[in-house]
Amino acid sequence: MGNDTVTIIDNATGKRMELPVFKGTCGPSVIDVRNLYREMGYFTYDPGYLSTGSCDSKITFIDGENGTLLYRGYPIEQLAKHSTYPEVCYLLLYRKLPTKAELEKFNESIKKHSLLDEAMRVFYRGFRHDAHAMAIMVAGVGALASFYPEALNVHDRNDRETSAHRLIAKMPTLAAWSYKYSIGQPFTYPRNDLDFTANFLSMMFGIPTEEYQANETFVKAMDLILILHADHEQNASTSTVRLTGSSEASPFAALSAGIGTLWGPAHGGANEVVVHMLEEMISSGKNLKHYINRAKDKNDRFRLMGFGHRVYKNYDPRAKIIRQICHQLLKEIGSDTENQQLFDTAMALERVALEDEYFIERKLYPNVDFYSGIIFRAMGIPLNMFTVIFALARTVGWLAHWMEMMADPDARISRPRQLYTGPDLQKYVPIEKR
Ligand code: CMC
Repeated sequence: MGNDTVTIIDNATGKRMELPVFKGTCGPSVIDVRNLYREMGYFTYDPGYLSTGSCDSKITFIDGENGTLLYRGYPIEQLAKHSTYPEVCYLLLYRKLPTKAELEKFNESIKKHSLLDEAMRVFYRGFRHDAHAMAIMVAGVGALASFYPEALNVHDRNDRETSAHRLIAKMPTLAAWSYKYSIGQPFTYPRNDLDFTANFLSMMFGIPTEEYQANETFVKAMDLILILHADHEQNASTSTVRLTGSSEASPFAALSAGIGTLWGPAHGGANEVVVHMLEEMISSGKNLKHYINRAKDKNDRFRLMGFGHRVYKNYDPRAKIIRQICHQLLKEIGSDTENQQLFDTAMALERVALEDEYFIERKLYPNVDFYSGIIFRAMGIPLNMFTVIFALARTVGWLAHWMEMMADPDARISRPRQLYTGPDLQKYVPIEKR
């Protein structure tokens, strides 16, 4: 990784330490602080991980300044144009694009695992009919751990691979069934004659009384959305999966924790909130400037949802692709006025925000969630399924990171340190004397 070093000097004691600097393939180098505490008695302090690399990884690279996203070195634009979601899954898990035979074998394995244990049908009945689908996903993926105790053999390569295939295969079934449960329709079983994405749509929208014919435009748009969301290096949910997995927990438990993290509106939950925000803007009839001013007001908690990103300080490349697809999809399927109004409002808001000094200065651009909700709406997918579809797509990314970590002989439990600012030593006072 290179022989560069950085010297730190403790001004209080004059003690010096050479810290190794590691260079990656691309992106900023990192300073290795692992021996800092042992040699200098200090921890580093970086709440929110603004400058902290938590691991080394060979999976995904983001250049936030230039709006670049690579999966295993392949630009997202090329994958979006030429690839399919199963092929991207293979690429993320196995580090290379598959041959035809390898992809077929992979698809066969995924199909083999797509059923849920029949006991899971009863599991759904424990939820209120209006339970948020993400709550069902957090619980459902955690519950699957009980059906596959061998998944606890996290140091066995074959068991890890089987768990990964099971999770990728069962996630669409779990997701679609959470939707079916919420609308009181019978669960639709997976169909092995369909490809991954068409099968998911069939489980979402198929009913036992009719043959379901997936709309090709929807299948293509959905497949693309899955590709765009498949991985995003060390984001909050992936870091959660790594952290949970670092205790050697079941991968089902690790992914359940990741789904919980994804749910929040600052992360994957933003796609749902964006649509609520746009709808409110339309129904209020207020000028968009009113909302821009609210977003700038530090005394108002309102933020422009779907704007800003920790890493991208230029246009999010996924948003660029998705915006174009959104436009095409609405044209192709003949958007109803509601969806067109949503899209037009989003474009108008983007224009106003991108000309505003506040957003320019802070490099706040639309992110992937700004447009994905509009596509989902146009496809007839209900709001509370938006983040679930993000989770379905990100499953492979979470698993690729988990597998990378579990295969690393130097990996150890993640255990951050802290700056303690609470009370110093106290003497216990019996209750009658307080
Ligand atoms: N609207 C208004 N101001 C914003 C916004 C926004 N959406 N995002 C950031 N800012 C301001 C923020 O107030 C701060 O201003 P100042 O420097 O004056 O204090 C500055 O920009 C930097 O923001 P930050 O909160 O320090 O940045 P962060 O890296 O901690 O947060 C973020 C990133 C994505 C959580 C944040 O931009 C945000 O809350 N955006 C809206 C939610 C959203 O769209 N989330 C989806 C993220 S992309 C998909 C995913 O990861 O799941």
